Amino acid sequence: MSWHPHLWHPTTQVATSPVPLQVRRARGCELELADGRRLIDAISSWWVTLHGHAEPSIAASIARQAQQLEQVIFANFSHQPAEQLATRLSALTGLQRLFFSDNGSTAIEVALKIAWQWWTNQGQSRQQLIAFDGAYHGDTFGAMAVGERSLFTAPYEPLLFEVCRIAWPHTSWGDATVEAREQQALSQLEQALRTPTAAVILEPLLQGASGMRLVRPAYVRAVAERVQASGALLIADEVMTGFGRTGALFACQKAGVQPDLMALSKGLTGGFLPMGVTMASERLYQGFIGNKAELTFFHGHSFTANPLGCAAALASLDLLQNQPERYQQFEPRHSPLLEVLAQHPRVVRPRCLGTIAAFDVKAGDDGYLNPVGKQLQRLCLEMGVYLRPLGNTVYLLPPLCISDEQLQRCYDALNRALDQLA
Ligand SMILES: Cc1ncc(COP(=O)(O)O)c(C=O)c1O
Repeated sequence: MSWHPHLWHPTTQVATSPVPLQVRRARGCELELADGRRLIDAISSWWVTLHGHAEPSIAASIARQAQQLEQVIFANFSHQPAEQLATRLSALTGLQRLFFSDNGSTAIEVALKIAWQWWTNQGQSRQQLIAFDGAYHGDTFGAMAVGERSLFTAPYEPLLFEVCRIAWPHTSWGDATVEAREQQALSQLEQALRTPTAAVILEPLLQGASGMRLVRPAYVRAVAERVQASGALLIADEVMTGFGRTGALFACQKAGVQPDLMALSKGLTGGFLPMGVTMASERLYQGFIGNKAELTFFHGHSFTANPLGCAAALASLDLLQNQPERYQQFEPRHSPLLEVLAQHPRVVRPRCLGTIAAFDVKAGDDGYLNPVGKQLQRLCLEMGVYLRPLGNTVYLLPPLCISDEQLQRCYDALNRALDQLA
């Protein structure tokens, strides 16, 4: 096997990475490789495959839509799948307006631009944006700017706009220090909000890419109260946490928070098609209406409201609404297995939220460049389980269809791989 002469893979250093595995097909939780091997996709293919690969009702919905209307320009035209999706997501999120884009990063760009321009349209100057340590909001420039500055963003540093940063008091089982850290972070936020602030952006309850870093719902609530009391807009990045991943349909609901803007993608189409949406309150929408052209939100993508993506999203919502117990009752499936794994001497900071279980491996420095994750990935692959640790943070985030037996196999593989670590 060798690298393809014409492809360029994402976030991959060719000099040090193994050649990508050839996938032939996928069903449910399993990827079937060209050589016949089967792997459990324990991370839902970068957190997108919500119900399972090739979920029949979503595949059928896309096929039906493809024969009806595959794509149409969304300026000057509208269509039923987009309208139905907007109506349903509006009812579910409490945010009346839906703006389409193509992925999680663009959903964030749209949220930032709406927030910024809304203040401009009001004739008010609020020049500060606030984000959190460890945040990840995507790889486009605006999304990088509000994300944590890291190895990923270093080459672009001169091009990234400035953001005020607040500590993220993440926690895990048995953490005795969290309350004090939350208080410190809240004081920092109060101080920062004394500067007129356009918007505050956060990943509610869980920062994904920086290492599955959980905060307590009460902290998210306390942040939202302070932000909203200051008049700043609250942007919830639910690209990863949305659609049941945290055990509630949206993490904001679990935290008891109503944001002004919400970015969604990944599980939106059940993981079938690339689509992002930014939900906005009616108050924000109204701020863009008027006779002056400059009030307009001049933003649009070629594939805005792609009907196939809408059809997939509608079918995915049907599944979520018909079987809410599949995400609501996932955490009790993880917890006992994680409790056992947490006894392993290499496991520290076990944590669990809805469909997501994570821990850190005691092995040198914490962080993305810690090689232990790659070692564990290799060992688990040999046992038929596909993982993609974030440095020394290991997590399981499987599709909802995973069986108890498959989930047990993931934990068993991890246990054995941890034993085999040098
Ligand atoms: C919280 C969060 N926001 C935004 C993004 C960016 O989404 P995309 O990769 O679809 O651009 C991600 C991707 O992992 C994410 O986890």
